[in-house]
Amino acid sequence: MKRIYLDYAATTPTDPEVARVMSLYLTDRFGNPSSTYSYGQEAKGTIEEARVQVAELIGARDDEIVFTSGGTEADNFAVKGVAFANENKGNHLITTSIEHHAVIETCRFLGGKGFRVTYLPVDEYGLVDPGDVKRAVTNKTILISVMHASNEMGTIEPIAEIGKIAKERGIPFHTDAVQTVGHIPVDVNKLEVDLLTMSAHKLYGPKGIGALYIRKGTKLVPFMHGGEQERRRRAGTENVPGNAGLGRAAELAQQEISEEMERLTYLRDKLIKGILEGIDHTHLNGPPSRRLPNNVNVTFDFVEGESIVLNLDLEGICASTGSACSSSSLESSHVLLAMGLSPEQAHGSLRLTLGKWTTEEMIEQVLDVLPRIIGKLRAISPLLRNHR
Ligand SMILES: Cc1ncc(COP(=O)(O)O)c(C=O)c1O
Repeated sequence: MKRIYLDYAATTPTDPEVARVMSLYLTDRFGNPSSTYSYGQEAKGTIEEARVQVAELIGARDDEIVFTSGGTEADNFAVKGVAFANENKGNHLITTSIEHHAVIETCRFLGGKGFRVTYLPVDEYGLVDPGDVKRAVTNKTILISVMHASNEMGTIEPIAEIGKIAKERGIPFHTDAVQTVGHIPVDVNKLEVDLLTMSAHKLYGPKGIGALYIRKGTKLVPFMHGGEQERRRRAGTENVPGNAGLGRAAELAQQEISEEMERLTYLRDKLIKGILEGIDHTHLNGPPSRRLPNNVNVTFDFVEGESIVLNLDLEGICASTGSACSSSSLESSHVLLAMGLSPEQAHGSLRLTLGKWTTEEMIEQVLDVLPRIIGKLRAISPLLRNHR
């Protein structure tokens, strides 16, 4: 059976060109970048080239990029790093109720260490109101962290507006842009952010490598202590193949972004229309247009998302019920609950995320299979029986 992969928000396949570049640094060019002989210097050069490639994708300077082990580490580094560096100024952090666990759990951790955290609400589309951010700021606020786009329903947040508020008040502003870098234009100056998280495996690069953009002058405590790598901000021998892979992935993304955005928006809208028109008692989660070009998130009343995912898998289609990180637990998505969905509705949600290798034929196949699956599950659904 030929598989149809529709879970690109969970992870993307590594682009074969990225894998080719990486393999050079696993075998021939294996040097430690800290070594002074040529093998080492060659590896160091590769890291610096990757830093430039990543910086160019987000409109940053290369010395503002610190490589990390992924999005989770970059989020931890940003939030803890700024909080601990500014403890003498205040103890108040502002974030939202729909952040990825990497930010929410870090804030909860800090909440147990004497920091006070405001978790802002969102509207029914998952949008944060910049007015709420403004009202939440106090003279003790030392960090604002709002994600660029939701990994669950693709809502694109008003980051530039929030950036202005943060700048006016002189508060460091972090955004988790794991789902947007490489998928929609991201420019750290237009967004007015001081810190930005990205992860390679969401943009056709490898897992286990990411980066944190740190605007020059932003104070934060180093994440790892040890050697002098990454300008003493993140010690440890560098992941040279990973860096080279992220760099090449960033370069490819820059070349492909406009065409891919247009192609995926067309496929996304075709999928949404087909589902909403073809299956009754179905609702789109998240905004109709202010959403990532590759994200479809729908709730099917009277059925559980988990059963849909299992049945799709039997047909060779990979999808998810929510964020990859929480989909193995049966708890309702905190994001959908924050948007006002009932636990039953949140359980009935299905996320389909598209990418580079998604074709129109695949979308048509899903639109053919899905009504049958939903019909079959509703026929045996106790939720539907109780509703009648
Ligand atoms: C919005 C967001 N932030 C952070 C992460 C964590 O990134 P990583 O898997 O590289 O640790 C993810 C991954 O699902 C994500 O979607």
